[in-house]
Amino acid sequence: MEFKSLRPLTGEGKQLFIETYGCQMNAGDSEIVVSIMQEHGYRYTEDINKADIILINTCSIRDNAEQRIWGRLSAMRQLKKRKPSLIVGIIGCMAERLKEQLIEKGTGVDIVAGPDSYRSLPDLVRTAEDGSKGINVELSKEETYAEIAPVRLDKNGVSAFIAIMRGCNNYCAYCVVPYTRGIERSRDPQTIVSEARTLFENGYREVTLLGQNVNSYSYGEVSFPELMAMVAEISPLLRVRFATSHPKDISDRLLEVMARYDNICKAIHLPAQSGSNEMLKKMNRKYTREWYLERIAAIGRYMPECAITTDLIAGFCGETLEDHSQTLSLMRQVGYASAFMFKYSERPGTFSARHFADDIDDDEKTRRLNEIIALQNQLSIESNQAEVGKIREVLVEGISKRSEEQLCGRTSQNKMVVFDRKNHKAGDYITVKITGCSSATLFGEEVL
Ligand code: SAH
Ligand code: SF4
Ligand code: F3S
Repeated sequence: MEFKSLRPLTGEGKQLFIETYGCQMNAGDSEIVVSIMQEHGYRYTEDINKADIILINTCSIRDNAEQRIWGRLSAMRQLKKRKPSLIVGIIGCMAERLKEQLIEKGTGVDIVAGPDSYRSLPDLVRTAEDGSKGINVELSKEETYAEIAPVRLDKNGVSAFIAIMRGCNNYCAYCVVPYTRGIERSRDPQTIVSEARTLFENGYREVTLLGQNVNSYSYGEVSFPELMAMVAEISPLLRVRFATSHPKDISDRLLEVMARYDNICKAIHLPAQSGSNEMLKKMNRKYTREWYLERIAAIGRYMPECAITTDLIAGFCGETLEDHSQTLSLMRQVGYASAFMFKYSERPGTFSARHFADDIDDDEKTRRLNEIIALQNQLSIESNQAEVGKIREVLVEGISKRSEEQLCGRTSQNKMVVFDRKNHKAGDYITVKITGCSSATLFGEEVL
């Protein structure tokens, strides 16, 4: 190992480009990766053509997510033809799932690094520069990158994500995440609060605390409701959100804390996955439809104005038409503000891949998904129409896509509002009256 220390900082002059797929956890990880690489003398570039190193932060959640990455890899091989010294690395969930397969002959991949091995990236790059393949897919029980200050790549300057935990222990039958991200571990709350405070001091006005199941955050004496309160106390001008909470353990204590602080946003993403008890059981979600609806009622008791959003899967193993109609009826009963909706995609190695047949054919999955999407469109419009006439506080995020003369921002309920710009700018809080809507956006007027 001696000789390594005799070399200059690996990165000198070299430029790093990073491309990110998948969830917000991955977006947050890319910011940690850039931070680690900068510490080692690499420079971050937004221009792929200038890159000496390209890292692709990947997702494995559904097969189509992985297919996209294979497509990107063939584009990378073209880039390498023009620039043979180019180093290409696959990081993130697909790196963890496929491991060595990704550096088999012909893929053009030089580095494979799983989500817990980013501190070793500078070494892996060095190995690749020396002509070998750099691979580290070891998962960790402790790694939280707690003290690494992420380099903010998403530059709206108003809202940022903070990872508060990593991994997942829930083993929902369909899901690859526990295998790609390892066991659940929580990050030291002091580092979370100080990251949030620094963001606030730098002009940020909203933080979203991230984890696969934030309700099970636990570090010493601090559990999730306390952590939320600690972050909310930083300033009444700092909005706090979180994602994602698992319905099985969204507690009254959390709802009580949410209700207590005006700056904790009144929006909860509560993935139901299915409305059928039969499916929920097979999915190993550990709650029933009745339990889920009771939690929705509890949210309403604490926060009558709280928006609820969800994730739904169409065509899980053995799903009957009756099961499917239970999903539709759950959607109507809750009246979701919005939803992410997916066709079930079998992931190798998961419980459902090993034990259940993926027996709903693709056309039928598509048909069910389309029914779910059509219903959600209707529910989204209804949810937006219910906002018309209300007075809401909006945190300005930036110029609207529709016109330079208009700004956009979100309400506490996480609904996007477009309104006249006047003298306002990103980061301002503005009180607006909602005057109209489409299925995706609200329109408002400032009230003085
Ligand atoms: N930890 C989060 C979800 C992470 S994955 C939670 O439990 O809420 C985001 C969503 O992808 C899941 O909620 C689920 O709806 C969907 N999903 C996960 N695995 C899937 C699969 N194999 N096929 C289709 N959708 C899937
Ligand atoms: Fe996947 Fe379930 Fe964990 Fe969410 S809670 S990441 S769906 S295993
Ligand atoms: Fe995808 Fe991994 Fe996130 S599989 S959804 S990037 S945790």
